[in-house]
Amino acid sequence: MSILSVNLADNSYDIVIERGILASLGQRCLTVGLKGMAAVISNPAVAALYGAAVQGSLVAAGFTVVRIEIPDGEEYKNSTTLNQVYDDLLASGVDRSSFIVALGGGVVGDLAGYAAATWMRGIPFVQVPTTLLAQVDSSVGGKTGIDHPKGKNLIGAFYQPRLVLIDVNTLATLDQRQFCAGLAEVIKYGVVIDHSFFEFVEKNSDAILAKDPDVLIEIILRSCQLKSQVVELDEKEAGLRAILNYGHTLGHAFESISGYSSLVHGEAVAIGMVLAAKVSVAKSLCSEEEFSRIHALIIKCGLPVEIPSYDRQQLIDVVAADKKSKSGNINFICNQGIGMYAMSQHTPEELLALSGLET
Ligand code: NAD
Ligand code: GLY
Repeated sequence: MSILSVNLADNSYDIVIERGILASLGQRCLTVGLKGMAAVISNPAVAALYGAAVQGSLVAAGFTVVRIEIPDGEEYKNSTTLNQVYDDLLASGVDRSSFIVALGGGVVGDLAGYAAATWMRGIPFVQVPTTLLAQVDSSVGGKTGIDHPKGKNLIGAFYQPRLVLIDVNTLATLDQRQFCAGLAEVIKYGVVIDHSFFEFVEKNSDAILAKDPDVLIEIILRSCQLKSQVVELDEKEAGLRAILNYGHTLGHAFESISGYSSLVHGEAVAIGMVLAAKVSVAKSLCSEEEFSRIHALIIKCGLPVEIPSYDRQQLIDVVAADKKSKSGNINFICNQGIGMYAMSQHTPEELLALSGLET
């Protein structure tokens, strides 16, 4: 079993990674001092697979459990769904002595985490991520939130969980498209932080795609370590943490333009990474050979690289509305070779030109 500590003073917590550990959730919640009622927030698909095991573990540890379901899909990560969750928390008597368990992928984790951050001015929560993307990225670091019609994740809070419990066995039921989507965030860490991790993913891509459990644990652990190291240095994204947004500026824009339907988040990030790597080549930060390696690994991992059709002005408007924009300039993350980042400021129009979208 791997236990990784995220050291954030009073907001510190452990990430526990192993196969078959859902049944230990209740005891682990007791160990971190949680009490009272547990509100398990999930969606119908994940609840059908793992809701009973999670409930059983919590009940066995002495917790009262209420279960809340939200509809499945990014299009429901919004204020309407959040208000329904608040209604359910109220109706169930979830108060400040209770806690929330987020059981699902990044959509459930982000929304349930934000509900925990805001309900009665904040109650504790536990992340039980069940997609690869949530296990390597969204469940760690305390970014919680919902989408606004004008942009993704525009409403939210930094709010750390008390515990992240990653049962790698849950990936067995995840479809290959969603699994590959999670690999986009794995590749991201290699490209902007750790060359040797990039090489590890390159060398083990067949085993990863075959969901070899030992290799999976290794990539989840190393991803969580890399992310935690960044979050420990810059919890609230004053600077450094922005490197984790590599591929996300243009990726989010295409995700938003697609109406969150044709591209899932990790696929949009994959396209955004190809464009970010192109910008990096244009700025002489990255060689053509390094670009080709990044491009090839993204394809090998079953991710899209083709640019979806788009309207130029709409793309500029969406990029400009991004949270990472300051006075018309976007704080854009490039890769310096493979394994290092570089930050620069550009207008949306410059980004379109540098990424080759206008040629
Ligand atoms: P998701 O939550 O929509 O899950 C993808 C699909 O997989 C859903 O249909 C879900 O029902 C299903 N699913 C989940 N676990 C399953 C399992 N074990 N077996 C079978 N099916 C399962 O998508 P995601 O990719 O996990 O998360 C994307 C979201 O995460 C986006 O909203 C994105 O903005 C957010 N995100 C947040 C952060 C952060 O730091 N908070 C980081 C990256 C992404
Ligand atoms: N996924 C980017 C971050 O957590 O900062």
